[in-house]
Amino acid sequence: MVGLSLDDDRWPRHGGQAAALLARFGLPHDQPLIDFSANLNPLGPPAWVPERLAELAAGLAHYPDPGYPRAREAIARHEGVAVEQVLLTNGGAEAIFLTAALHPGGRAAVLQPSFGEYTRACAAHGLAVSSLAMTAPDFRLDPEAVEARLGDCDLLFLCRPNNPTGTLSPWMAVETLLGMARRQNCRVVIDEAFIDFVDAPGERLSPLLAGFDNLILLRSLTKLYTLPGLRLGYVLAGEETMRRLQDHQPPWSVNHLAAELVEDLLADEDFLVRTQAWLREERPRFQSRLASLGLEVMPSQANFCLVRQNTGPAAADALLGRLLHAGILARHTHDFSGLDGSWLRLALRGRADNDRLFAALAAEISP
Ligand SMILES: Cc1ncc(COP(=O)(O)O)c(C=O)c1O
Repeated sequence: MVGLSLDDDRWPRHGGQAAALLARFGLPHDQPLIDFSANLNPLGPPAWVPERLAELAAGLAHYPDPGYPRAREAIARHEGVAVEQVLLTNGGAEAIFLTAALHPGGRAAVLQPSFGEYTRACAAHGLAVSSLAMTAPDFRLDPEAVEARLGDCDLLFLCRPNNPTGTLSPWMAVETLLGMARRQNCRVVIDEAFIDFVDAPGERLSPLLAGFDNLILLRSLTKLYTLPGLRLGYVLAGEETMRRLQDHQPPWSVNHLAAELVEDLLADEDFLVRTQAWLREERPRFQSRLASLGLEVMPSQANFCLVRQNTGPAAADALLGRLLHAGILARHTHDFSGLDGSWLRLALRGRADNDRLFAALAAEISP
């Protein structure tokens, strides 16, 4: 961090927030941009979505069933868990805030650098938050190091694959972490918002729910299906935790259109296959082209990666500004605890857009 607090509004807190950056760099608010700052699937939303939403509009005049039985049954089938273990949420963001509500006034730890909403959600519910640094340079999870520093935490947050580093904590290390946390009465919240972008079948942690009642899994459907304006997510947890989470969720938190889409989204296997084919081809090309431009690239298993020039935060800010002038929106990293702002985060897009990014970087990187 370069003297910025999490609440500093000089830098936008999320990707996809062009207006604040354009203003900061003195550029017109309607500057055309290709957005590499929000980690969304460029193939989505699935082509059938607008028509389906139009059909669903007829139901807008009715309250949804606040238990969302059809959506939750579809998720339970998809994840191989009981329907009682599923809570539908208004995006992954609501899921994060609901888990923090489990321990008002308690203690939490966040494995950093990671998504800023864990800290904000804990602060909103009066939890004292400590940062546990992942092991640099590749930001690995080291369960023994966590155990030594966990103290008497009620909640531990881990993102997998991690935003912003793209690293996927190995299954074995996660199991060790869960066992250790259980001995200390600590719930572990693992945010798998980007798990569908990982090119390794069987990496979803849902099977661990059967053995660890202290595991809470968070998912977002917003990223994979490119629906940030609609918003969908869910929580998977043991039944007792689930009952407590439900108590904190406002009724009808998920709107009718989003809830009714869940079953069809999860049934669209073709969309998933096409997404995985795109990633298999584009992710290695993306990372190697960036490296060939002389950038340090953090190896990523997600649909985004961190890059830096190793010339410090001020140079990264200058590059961010030059890229904006060239019509490219990248994500700054000033608000990620443990990164000093010298990295930029770039999301993978379609091949033509990615080629424009490489060309802009080649022109703007100072030798
Ligand atoms: C790690 C992580 N979890 C959750 C979210 C929130 O997801 P949603 O848009 O579904 O609320 C984000 C959004 O950027 C994220 O990066």
